[in-house]
Amino acid sequence: MRFLLLVYLLLSVTAEDVSVDEMDCQVYNNLYVCLANGVLQSVAFEDVNAVQTIEDIELHLEGLEIVDIAKDAFLEVANSSALYIRDNELTVISRHYFTALDQLTYLDLKNNTIVDIEDAAFARLRNLESLLLDYNNISTLRPGAWKGLNDLHELYATNNNIVLKRNMFRGLRHLETLALDSNEITEVPIGAFNGLPHIDLLYLSRNKISTIQPEIFRGLGEINELDLGRNQLKTVSGGIFRYLRNLNSLWLNGNHIVMLKADAFEGLDNLLLLFLNSNELRFVDMAAFNRMKNVTVDPGFKIRDSLVDNVYKVHGRFRCNSVAFQFPYECTEI
Ligand SMILES: *[C@@H]1O[C@H](CO)[C@@H](O)[C@H](O)[C@H]1NC(C)=O
Ligand SMILES: *[C@@H]1O[C@H](CO)[C@@H](O)[C@H](O)[C@H]1NC(C)=O
Ligand SMILES: *[C@@H]1O[C@H](CO)[C@@H](O)[C@H](O)[C@H]1NC(C)=O
Ligand SMILES: *[C@@H]1O[C@H](CO)[C@@H](O)[C@H](O)[C@H]1NC(C)=O
Repeated sequence: MRFLLLVYLLLSVTAEDVSVDEMDCQVYNNLYVCLANGVLQSVAFEDVNAVQTIEDIELHLEGLEIVDIAKDAFLEVANSSALYIRDNELTVISRHYFTALDQLTYLDLKNNTIVDIEDAAFARLRNLESLLLDYNNISTLRPGAWKGLNDLHELYATNNNIVLKRNMFRGLRHLETLALDSNEITEVPIGAFNGLPHIDLLYLSRNKISTIQPEIFRGLGEINELDLGRNQLKTVSGGIFRYLRNLNSLWLNGNHIVMLKADAFEGLDNLLLLFLNSNELRFVDMAAFNRMKNVTVDPGFKIRDSLVDNVYKVHGRFRCNSVAFQFPYECTEI
């Protein structure tokens, strides 16, 4: 190792113009990691023999105050399958960062200060299945950012400043999970989820969405779980969920919904879980639930002081009010 270090230092002095005293090398999570002024210069296995028997090599580079990554920094660890580089200070994901890591299936970039992802930044990561971008400072995504991610299954980008645009995720043909909770989403433009035919879990909670148009869900018939909790929805317009024929869990808690009309949940015959707590429900037409034979509504309804077991069996229009958070709505027939 000492010999390698010497060779490395000589190389880096000539090639990268980094002086010896700026270079800081350390053993970290079984890796030999070199940094110079916050720039990750190289990563090597501490024990090359030990990794030969490991199937899934994970690189753990969390919390090293990395601001940038030199070209070829990952050359010696090219066959790794997971990279955890969270809790660092990367601001721009450059297209040269991950070119060597073409076997990666999992990339965790959480909690950096990312503002930009260059076009084709992940283009070599053809095996990538999970990409985690939560807790960054992303407000927009370039359409070319997803180039090459044909096999991505999960994209987590919660706690950023993302605003949705048409075709924003186009190219992620096999995406199944899209988590965009806690962003700056005020509206969902038609076509925002274009090109994502296999979305199964769509999480949009803790944004500022005030209206939903049915056309945004066209072509998303595979969605199982939709989280719109803690937004600013005031109404559930008739038929807005009609394309979501496989939906089984729907979160609408923490909105400002006052009224549920008979057609609010049209098309959701297979719904199993519906979260309505922390709304301002005043008026409910129970016909809204008549086709959901197996639904559980949280926090439920109390009619004449008893909790309704099978909401789909109840008929009529009710005036309701909320006694307290998480308590069933108390309703009387009009
Ligand atoms: C991964 O790369 C190291 C260093 O190049 C090598 O020694 C090791 O055999 C490789 N492991 C696998 C599973 O290919
Ligand atoms: C983000 O990383 C910093 C260290 O860089 C840490 O102190 C903080 O707790 C992390 N925050 C989250 C949300 O993980
Ligand atoms: C996040 O980005 C905004 C501009 O998009 C900037 O004003 C703000 O300072 C950034 N915050 C951090 C923590 O980098
Ligand atoms: C209804 O729900 C119960 C329990 O959640 C489950 O066992 C049953 O299979 C469901 N029936 C249908 C028709 O989905």
